[in-house]
Amino acid sequence: MARRHIEPFVDRDVPFRKMTLPGFKRGMNYKMLSIDKNSGACTMTVQLEGGYKQPPSISMSDLEILSIKGTFALGDQACAKGYYTFVPKGVALKALSTERGCEILLMYNDREPNIVESDQDATGARRSGLIATNSYDDMPWQVPNLFPATEPGCLIKVLRMDEETHALSFLYCMVPGFWQDNISFHDCAEEAYHIWGTSWMMQFGNLPTGGYFWRPPYINHGAFASEHGVLAFGRTDGNLHNHFHFHAHTEPAANQAKVGKKLARQSPHLFKWVMTEGHNHPDFLHGHGPDWVHSHDHQGAHSHDHKHGDVNQNTALGAKRRR
Ligand SMILES: [Fe+2]
Repeated sequence: MARRHIEPFVDRDVPFRKMTLPGFKRGMNYKMLSIDKNSGACTMTVQLEGGYKQPPSISMSDLEILSIKGTFALGDQACAKGYYTFVPKGVALKALSTERGCEILLMYNDREPNIVESDQDATGARRSGLIATNSYDDMPWQVPNLFPATEPGCLIKVLRMDEETHALSFLYCMVPGFWQDNISFHDCAEEAYHIWGTSWMMQFGNLPTGGYFWRPPYINHGAFASEHGVLAFGRTDGNLHNHFHFHAHTEPAANQAKVGKKLARQSPHLFKWVMTEGHNHPDFLHGHGPDWVHSHDHQGAHSHDHKHGDVNQNTALGAKRRR
């Protein structure tokens, strides 16, 4: 989810463009909110014109949809404002249609927008990961159980949490008169779209309805305030921890270093293990089994068997250490 810092951006300031990628039907228009230029993964505001019809389809990317205006149908099911779905890659989505038109947030998480007509799941598709909920009507607002906590008056509905990464998709609201006087940063990237309402932030000013940001890790944000309240959709690409402070001008690198020092102080054994030579390796993320012995390909560069703890001379870290 490497995308450049976009903040603030207001989608009402730009026109819709026609979606012309192969497979998508006429009557689909989009505003690009953020995009990973390497993978094509992106977040868009999408307008489906009245009469739009898309046959059953699959995508080779995890995708998320949040209905923000109007109504569409998935098969026979009416999906009103607040309908949210997470569709794992390769899982077939029912026929999508809208009589009077609608607007949705549409997110492709792995690659550029892509679609293939199919009413069957692709081989290996993980249908158990499918989420579909009417988030406005069927879910209660909850006080976040994050610690350190935001000030009272910021509530959340968790739509999805990735089991492995703890990446979140969620609705949040600020009640009228909400304020928070400290500054926050996170170890994860964070994005948000204002479905309704305006909030103020010290660094970036007012963010109105249609406002959006994609914020990489460790960037200061706050203090906050909202006079009339906010309804918004947010996502992170990892665990959402509030690192609160009151130093308005610290840079991301300094914030990151501060967290690294804290990890070394508070979890010295974990820190030492993570820093062990050879653990800074792609398989560190995906290894399993009692001794993590396995073989793999490095994107075609080479393949070998090895045990973690061995120095891998072919990684960037190994190359650096050879110098
Ligand atoms: Fe944040």
